[in-house]
Amino acid sequence: MSQSSKVVVIGAGPAGYVCAIRLAQLGQKVVVVEKQALGGTCLNVGCIPSKAMIAAGSLMEKVAHAHVMGITVENVSLDATKLVEWKNAIVGRLTGGVGGLLQKHGCKVVMGTARIANKNTVEVTTDKGIERLACDQIVIATGSIPIEIPGFAFDEDSVWSSTGALSPVKIPDHLVVIGGGYIGLELGMMYRHLGSKVTVLEATPGALPGQDADCVKVIERSLKKKKIVLRVNTFAKQWRKEGDGLMVTIEKNGEQEEIQCDQILSTVGRRPFSEGLGLEGLGIATIKGGFIQVDKQMRTSVSNIFCVGDAAGQPMLAHKAEEEGVACVELINGQKTHINYDTIPAIVYTNPEVASVGKTESQLKEAKVDYKVGKFPFMANGRALTTSSIEGFVKILADSKTDEILGAHIIGHDAGQLIAEIVTTMEFGGSSEDIARICHAHPTTSEAVKEAAMNIEGRSIHI
Ligand code: FAD
Ligand code: NAI
Repeated sequence: MSQSSKVVVIGAGPAGYVCAIRLAQLGQKVVVVEKQALGGTCLNVGCIPSKAMIAAGSLMEKVAHAHVMGITVENVSLDATKLVEWKNAIVGRLTGGVGGLLQKHGCKVVMGTARIANKNTVEVTTDKGIERLACDQIVIATGSIPIEIPGFAFDEDSVWSSTGALSPVKIPDHLVVIGGGYIGLELGMMYRHLGSKVTVLEATPGALPGQDADCVKVIERSLKKKKIVLRVNTFAKQWRKEGDGLMVTIEKNGEQEEIQCDQILSTVGRRPFSEGLGLEGLGIATIKGGFIQVDKQMRTSVSNIFCVGDAAGQPMLAHKAEEEGVACVELINGQKTHINYDTIPAIVYTNPEVASVGKTESQLKEAKVDYKVGKFPFMANGRALTTSSIEGFVKILADSKTDEILGAHIIGHDAGQLIAEIVTTMEFGGSSEDIARICHAHPTTSEAVKEAAMNIEGRSIHI
């Protein structure tokens, strides 16, 4: 690999395009194959468009509550077509940017669907026919797709996947969301802010399974405050058209009932995508959930074929995909890179946001690790009060003996930004005392992070 080799990267999402650019920086000849659009799920139908629409929803929500500051805004209206155009313009700018970066680094882009014919040949079906690419190495970065549940095939008309929900023709009157995880709550809240009535059906006993239990309590309270109905332990069974609307049959504890709505959004998870690549013929092993099996160098069971991003395993997050894209090529180039999966942050862009890194309390209890908790509420933070965003708290978990930070869970307006400080501290093996001793600017919500760290030893000043 350290000598110039020819590498084909399949998929131009955050895993694939970042991998291709790093390969080019290391002097390799790179061809990127993409069947749909540069930027993948993240830039086209995931992170970026959802955050743009969520920002619009948050603005509507702020305007609706501005009266507490003495500001009255009348006749607020929403033009769904303009909102989608604005969102599309942001997507266009970023995906165009990816094209420019690939070109600048000398990566060749072939638009078409790739299949691995053998371990040194990728066949691409393009508009003009089949193109055969001979190569020394192959990187699979084919990402993931939304899971469909029986009875709720995506037609992107009555039944949306997240993709349909990000290009609405109109804002639904009543949206039924199946799944109260990342997408269900992010987009469910967004539509509530944009004016829809929203009902969320969640199969498990609570929203956001796996997240810190105290954060979930705040989110569930916030859903209630926004008048979003969360039905837990509830499954959607089927739907039908009735008049102008839709009837969804739901089941809880064996009892069925019908809910009337005009739009369904199904967000019950995503699964790795590798169909049509020809993995079986090559003997590339997969693991539970359909992920492609890789070693610590992101190498599959075929030595010159690698896999990065969503297709290679959880967590299915864009920043994890990018880290793997870089690490994979640096490792095979003989450099000493590693990915610390314990310090990959996760942010749910609800209102308030939920940000986490490292272990939860239940994971630490299960592993029988002694830990201390430091918590600080935004209600006692000056900056949070001045922005009228007092929901939530910062919680830091530290080892009882060594004080090393083992995890952190933040729920609040700025949670997604604030978690970065704790990620950095954890990456350096830092302690809660380290954060407690750092000077944080006033007034900022970052002071709540310092106070939570001080609270581990019961010496928080402002509570
Ligand atoms: P993808 O982005 O899925 O890219 C894979 C690419 O491979 C695609 O472009 C596909 O067309 C192409 N491809 C597949 N098969 C072939 C083939 N045979 N030939 C050629 N090309 C092929 N993550 C976050 O971290 N933060 C967020 O805020 C966030 N928000 C999200 C919101 C939504 C609504 C969704 C759906 C996802 C969100 N995610 C978010 C997850 C994030 O989008 C994914 O983790 C990330 O895109 C994974 O990157 P990837 O490169 O592995 O795969
Ligand atoms: P998810 O796994 O986050 O949530 C799915 C939810 O659906 C779970 O709560 C699950 O219990 C529930 N569920 C499953 N089957 C069900 C059924 N039959 N009926 C009712 N509920 C059911 O998956 P989601 O929201 O589709 O997102 C997929 C992935 O995309 C995420 O796990 C995450 O990795 C990524 N993502 C990340 C975002 C971010 O970083 N902010 C935003 C959006 C997606």
